[in-house]
Amino acid sequence: MSSRILRVDPWNPAPETIEEAAAILRFGGLVAFPTETVYGLGADGLDPRAAAKIFAAKGRPADNPLILHFAAPEAVDDVARVSPNARRLMELFWPGPLTLVLPSRGTVPSEVTAGLDTVAVRMPSHPAALALLAGAGVPVAAPSANSSGRPSPTDASAVADDLGDAVDLILDGGPTSVGVESTVLDVTGEHLVLLRPGGCSVEEIETRTGAEVLLSGGAAHRSPGTRYRHYAPRVPLLLDSDAGRIVRAARESGTGERRIAWVGMHAPETSLGEGIAHPELRIVFDSPENYARGLFHALRAFEEEGADLIAAQWPSSDAGIMRALRDRLTRASMKE
Ligand code: TXA
Ligand code: MG
Repeated sequence: MSSRILRVDPWNPAPETIEEAAAILRFGGLVAFPTETVYGLGADGLDPRAAAKIFAAKGRPADNPLILHFAAPEAVDDVARVSPNARRLMELFWPGPLTLVLPSRGTVPSEVTAGLDTVAVRMPSHPAALALLAGAGVPVAAPSANSSGRPSPTDASAVADDLGDAVDLILDGGPTSVGVESTVLDVTGEHLVLLRPGGCSVEEIETRTGAEVLLSGGAAHRSPGTRYRHYAPRVPLLLDSDAGRIVRAARESGTGERRIAWVGMHAPETSLGEGIAHPELRIVFDSPENYARGLFHALRAFEEEGADLIAAQWPSSDAGIMRALRDRLTRASMKE
């Protein structure tokens, strides 16, 4: 059985549709909905039983906390202590793809925070998401609406493929615009610490706040979720920086029957060997922003096309959205 899918105009969502979805959330059900980054799998973030359904539907490890989503910054005060620095970040970047980790007030169920004394909060900019959050009237816990470990969903069909009937309703607002998840920033200490690169760049945060963003090095400083292999397609993914392995994999297959896919910002380098990437399995984006927007969709499309191996271009630097791209590519290519 598959779950119910309702179309929603992303810019001008129909009130009846939003109210139907909001009612499901208020009654403890699961609603997948579009945000500007990726689709989220939402549940009432103050209801432990509703939050538990998220973990069951995704097959998500219980020690990986969820982000709470809000329709307005003021509502955050009920669940977290908001410092002047955090307030300023909200003023500068909300609504938008920046998640803040703040000290918890202890009002959020431990299912959501995974027992941490902090809570992650975000106000998305997607109009349909904002309408849903306002209608629900509660903080909405929402991880990406994929099965745990799979590429994040950037359209409704990816949600349906992964979660099937485990979700009560999928709101289909078309493809998402950013394509990678929000940036997660730890604001609990003296310094801003980047826990996960994402749709809001480090440069932008530093320029607009005048403060330095520390890059989390040690495991202790990383988001629990970033410990796992993640975003991985069912087909092995290799980075072009590992050209030798790609060429070897192609040779080992012998007859050239092997279907190697390519995704990046230019055609595969000739050093990868002539004709290695199957012409029908090449997706080339014209900018880092479009690479980020289309990466997860490309990985899922290659699976469906029956690729045997995916080769992906390693972005040329850490600048802007490329930091998030590098992070997702690294973790999608990790061995189990
Ligand atoms: O763009 C996004 O952020 C999407 C959309 C749906 O809003 N959501 C999303 O959620 O990516 P999820 O669950 O896939 O990733 C949340 C990340 C995980 O790495 C998790 O460990 C981290 O945020 N996180 C959540 N609460 C945290 C906390 N209290 N401290 C540190 N990291 C936390
Ligand atoms: Mg996720």
